[in-house]
Amino acid sequence: MTQLSGNADVPDMGRRQFMNLLTFGAVTGTALGALYPIVKYFLPPSSGAGGGGVVAKDALGNDVVAADFLASHSVGDRVLAQGLKGDPTYIVVSSAEEIAPYGINAVCTHLGCVVPWNASENKFICPCHGSQYNSEGKVVRGPAPLSLALAHAEVTDGKVAFVPWTETDFRTNESPWWS
Ligand code: FES
Repeated sequence: MTQLSGNADVPDMGRRQFMNLLTFGAVTGTALGALYPIVKYFLPPSSGAGGGGVVAKDALGNDVVAADFLASHSVGDRVLAQGLKGDPTYIVVSSAEEIAPYGINAVCTHLGCVVPWNASENKFICPCHGSQYNSEGKVVRGPAPLSLALAHAEVTDGKVAFVPWTETDFRTNESPWWS
């Protein structure tokens, strides 16, 4: 009998500890959950290639180093690199010293052809069905229904990185259709 009551205590203790653990876990989880947006707020978006971003890759699959890239391209160039989700994405050279803070996804919003940059026309012109986009990728002629998607482009540790663009599309003042 003594042995039985002794044994009966064990699961009690176990249950109590288990309940304590559960409560602790719930409280901790809730506290961390509540803290997350605050912590996230203070992290710079350029924690970059971390926060959902990727380092741009050139045609050979190498990381795009900003200084080398700027030294080998001219102001106004739009240069294809591999971007978010592997999508071909243009890096825009905005001055001799820097790239534009946005990259332009090269996938045509009509049926998905990769849209080349036409420097003489100052437009992206799709070879498949003739859709046209201005120099920032805003659609100016159909059949494409939407502008080219955007990504943030930034320099992190000397390399060009793309980060998802979830804010208003500055070209249309609308919510981004791609996110
Ligand atoms: Fe570009 Fe049709 S896929 S216009």
